[in-house]
Amino acid sequence: MTAASTWADGSEFGADGFAALARRGLDLRGGASARRFPGKRIVNVFFDSSLRTRTSMEAAAHDLGMHCVTLNPGKDAWKLEHRDGVVMDGDCPEHVKEAVPVLAEYADLLGVRAFAGLKDPEDDAADAMLGAFQRWSPVPVISLESARFHPLQGLADAATLLHELGDVRKKRVVMTWAPHPRTLPQAVPNQFAMTCALLGADLTIAHPEGFDLDPAVLARVSGIAATNGGRIAVSHDQDESLRGAVVVYAKNWSGWSYYGHREVEAARRATLGSWTVTGAKMAKTEDAAFMHCLPVRRNVVVADEVLDSNRSLVIAEAGLRRWTAMALLERMLS
Ligand code: CP
Repeated sequence: MTAASTWADGSEFGADGFAALARRGLDLRGGASARRFPGKRIVNVFFDSSLRTRTSMEAAAHDLGMHCVTLNPGKDAWKLEHRDGVVMDGDCPEHVKEAVPVLAEYADLLGVRAFAGLKDPEDDAADAMLGAFQRWSPVPVISLESARFHPLQGLADAATLLHELGDVRKKRVVMTWAPHPRTLPQAVPNQFAMTCALLGADLTIAHPEGFDLDPAVLARVSGIAATNGGRIAVSHDQDESLRGAVVVYAKNWSGWSYYGHREVEAARRATLGSWTVTGAKMAKTEDAAFMHCLPVRRNVVVADEVLDSNRSLVIAEAGLRRWTAMALLERMLS
């Protein structure tokens, strides 16, 4: 990565660099001394809600001696337009063309969270708001979750996998689609696939027919997995996929083929309650650990008996968001 570049999907420092950052996060959690960056500032712009990402970034910046400013456009800051050439007579009083370079006058790093709109696949694939920040920022940009990826979650997940499994290469990891009442983006499952690919895991993505990930992302992460000695497979049989798994990562996501057909998707989703991760499902695994990025809907995505069991890593996984964010900030400012 060079100055004024973007941390967008975790692959920017290569597989070794990604694993090194995750290990640095584990070391920091274990008591290693953090570097100090007095006088450095980060401004994080959240177009969508957050509990973990916002708080862990603020805590990480504080623990490195930095100052962190958090803005929520449309709530405590001006609503921002990102499209080129539009007549701004709607509800956005400011364009990112001004806002981003202005914020960079006050900060050494910028962060941005902007989820997928889930209406137009080309818009979502273009990752427009992250791209606009990248385009107009003279300082490096950190994705706090974009339409496509969630690299800070990926880093904490990598640290969780490394702590749980040691060497992750060729270990049998399953990411399973799970029920949810709403249409959700693909950033987290894309990112977990990227994380497993960078670590060289043997990942099976289990989902009902129709709930495919973006084929372009799948092709890219499959190539990265092969380069790192890993593998990515797709299955529509959840029970079969779980056999032999040492880690189960549950997540809901919307199907790539359902763009423009969300009512059809909702009707189909209503029939898929059997995909909830239960104790009986976990019993098919090799005493697998359970992971989820949170927030999670209890007894919809996963049963209480799994979430409250000693094989659930979700609190430690979220806790690592703070330490791995510190590791990333250290690297970005070095
Ligand atoms: N996992 C995650 O990013 O959580 P938040 O949406 O609360 O930040």
